[in-house]
Amino acid sequence: MLLVTGGAGFIGSNFILSTLAEAGEAIVNLDKLTYAGNLRNLDALSSDARHIFLRGDIGDRALVKQALERHRPRAIVHFAAESHVDRSIVGPADFIQTNIVGTGSLLEEVRAYWDTLQGAQRTDFRFLHVSTDEVYGSLGPTDPAFSETTAYAPNSPYAASKAASDHLVRAYHHTYGLPTLTSNCSNNYGPYQFPEKLIPLVIRNALAGEPLPVYGDGKQVRDWLYVLDHCTAVRRILEAGRVGETYNIGGGSEKKNLDVVRTICAILDEARPRAKGSYADQITFVKDRPGHDRRYAIDGAKLGTELGWQAKETFETGLRKTVRWYLDHPAWTEEVTSGAYRNWVETNYARRGAA
Ligand code: NAD
Ligand code: DAU
Repeated sequence: MLLVTGGAGFIGSNFILSTLAEAGEAIVNLDKLTYAGNLRNLDALSSDARHIFLRGDIGDRALVKQALERHRPRAIVHFAAESHVDRSIVGPADFIQTNIVGTGSLLEEVRAYWDTLQGAQRTDFRFLHVSTDEVYGSLGPTDPAFSETTAYAPNSPYAASKAASDHLVRAYHHTYGLPTLTSNCSNNYGPYQFPEKLIPLVIRNALAGEPLPVYGDGKQVRDWLYVLDHCTAVRRILEAGRVGETYNIGGGSEKKNLDVVRTICAILDEARPRAKGSYADQITFVKDRPGHDRRYAIDGAKLGTELGWQAKETFETGLRKTVRWYLDHPAWTEEVTSGAYRNWVETNYARRGAA
């Protein structure tokens, strides 16, 4: 039994779907269902008894304690977080609450549970904390890529809250011996990503005939990783990572934002041509994000050499798959953006009931 937090979000739902597709082990999915959590992502598991959904907050100590005692997981995979940098700039409070206080509460309950375990159950237990490359700050054009020993220098409230959570996880290992693992990953993209993030937002706006907003000069660089590759990396780290260690995960795929947007336009021009002109005609430069990090890049050597992990998708293959997925699932985007999805959750959660 695994306990996954944030399993109704973008990466968490891809993780649950792909893990259950290849393993027999059950998964308890603890998710608060914020605006970013969507149970429809997991519709394929609606009659699969191995997926047990539990609606709740990672900061709810009583609920987490009860879930741990009842389901007795062998590992926690902690995805739950507020994840959008722009939202953290508008309102950092939820980020501080969930990412820092929530992770702190979760660690306390997990430590108490782990203390009750004995023998192999205790030594084999793992707490895998899913974090971000943004904790390392911003790189200049010729700086070496982030490695696991790069000093933390978070710049946005989101990055600072994730950095704080990483430090708590580190401290729980060093102080209490909790068998933790931390992964710091670059920008993910793929199915089920909420269209507030660059790639799904551009696909959605392009098809809706709306502006494609590029912040500042569009020359900021991100390293892109297809979400299912992130999921294989997380499973590999969970299986073979050294306790107490951190692992960077990257796609080896640095791209300027403007090039990402133009590539999406070119794929759409081919797959769903506009009546006239190119989707690139919709590109609009807008005011930059305050404190916008210029460049991220990942040195993934540790994960590659120590655990033998490699990404399967290139940016080109992954992006084509992603655009195809959004073209084939217009109702998903419509629901999450129109608010119909929120209504669906409220009315149907009562019908489903808690696990
Ligand atoms: P997301 O915003 O799509 O999903 C977050 C999920 O967590 C949602 O289902 C939400 O309902 C849930 N959640 C939020 N607050 C909660 C709380 N207090 N209790 C329980 N559940 C709560 O995020 P994502 O993009 O899937 O990211 C998942 C994790 O991976 C995050 O920790 C993020 O920092 C990290 N990460 C993301 C990326 C990326 O590119 N998206 C890259 C590296 C790391
Ligand atoms: O690096 C990992 C991080 O990647 C994760 O930890 C975060 O959870 C995830 O949201 C992502 O953060 P970014 O800020 O890099 O992602 P976002 O999709 O918001 O933006 C990607 C880049 O595109 C960034 O430089 C800002 C720019 N951008 C974004 C949006 C939404 C635009 O130019 N226009 C936009 O409309």
